[in-house]
Amino acid sequence: MTAASPKPELLHNATEIYRSAFGRAPVVCGWAPGRVNLIGEHVDYCGGFVLPVAIDRQTVAVSSGFEPGGSGEGGVVLVSAARPGERVEWRLTEFPRLTNLPVWCRYIAAVIGEALDGADPPPGTIHLAIAGDVPIGAGLSSSASLEVAVALLFEAVTGRARARVDTARLCRRAEHAAVGVPCGIMDQYTAALAEPGRAVRIDCEIEAHRSVPLPESVRVVVADSGVKHALAAGDYAACRASCERALAAIVQAVGPRPNLRRCSMADLLLASGAMKHEDFARARHVILECGRVSQAVEALLRADLATVGRLMAESHASLRDDFKVSCKELDELVERALGQPGVIGARMTGGGFGGCIVALVEAPRASEVVAALGADGRLAFQTPAAGAGGAASL
Ligand code: GLA
Repeated sequence: MTAASPKPELLHNATEIYRSAFGRAPVVCGWAPGRVNLIGEHVDYCGGFVLPVAIDRQTVAVSSGFEPGGSGEGGVVLVSAARPGERVEWRLTEFPRLTNLPVWCRYIAAVIGEALDGADPPPGTIHLAIAGDVPIGAGLSSSASLEVAVALLFEAVTGRARARVDTARLCRRAEHAAVGVPCGIMDQYTAALAEPGRAVRIDCEIEAHRSVPLPESVRVVVADSGVKHALAAGDYAACRASCERALAAIVQAVGPRPNLRRCSMADLLLASGAMKHEDFARARHVILECGRVSQAVEALLRADLATVGRLMAESHASLRDDFKVSCKELDELVERALGQPGVIGARMTGGGFGGCIVALVEAPRASEVVAALGADGRLAFQTPAAGAGGAASL
């Protein structure tokens, strides 16, 4: 795991708003990237495999640590470059009564609350300033990037560093607490442990990864459908519940299985009479998608790009037809991407119901593909596989 560095312009923005809000310079920063998932969707909470890369868009958080004065013992004072003029304050003892806070602050309050884990906060008040360029609500894990940036900053401030996988777990708990989304580990794990130039194949059952170098001949391109996804709206929780019902029916029919990743298609077929078609189709997606991730990793390692492209197409079709988390705009954008010269594969990425598509593109064509996908003003960009977040003194 190599921590990259904070993007200079984001560090500058965060430092400037800190200075103008609080009248002094911050002394420590934490940062973490967003992510885009190449393949392995809606399988992380089923113990499956995923293959994300960190993107070169980040959240940066700066602070001077706990200081006397301010709004009192255990106080937090927060400003954000995205919210000019807004200044939010709360007491750490208020956690977990997060609903009093604006949603964007709940992630931060939840991370700090989880990090303290019932312990008394250090004496004094902590001032924080946030700046970031991960698009919000586009399925690129802006929330995980915020959580991990703040968690790493808080570790630096309190001198209590954790193993990175524990930081990822803490941030996942924070996401659950902050907005009630029962997400898997993929986004927070990627922000905390990604490696530059590589995708990470995360085994979400044991929460460990192997890194997968991307062939030099390919580029990762992301394009936004413009449809805002709202995971908190309950659709995500419904997907997860569907998978849990299917697993329960399989266990009933064929015996103990720890998760859907450990179920075979034969298991599923034996239990199919005991579940609704919706649950059957979602479980079929999970079981087959886990196999596709393993095949995609092998294909990437031997630079068999045609196979990677076919697997991405199968993944998209399965998310559209079986898992039912795509939408018209995502389907059209995938089609448009596949029509561009040099595109190896394309699919929706992330939780779905809107958000982005990801395409793997032959390197010399990447700029043209970005221009074509972004022609109507939508967000489209290519990204290197970035490194994990980190923290540093300023
Ligand atoms: C969201 C969640 C992840 C994962 C994806 C779907 O991004 O936060 O844990 O489940 O959806 O693959």
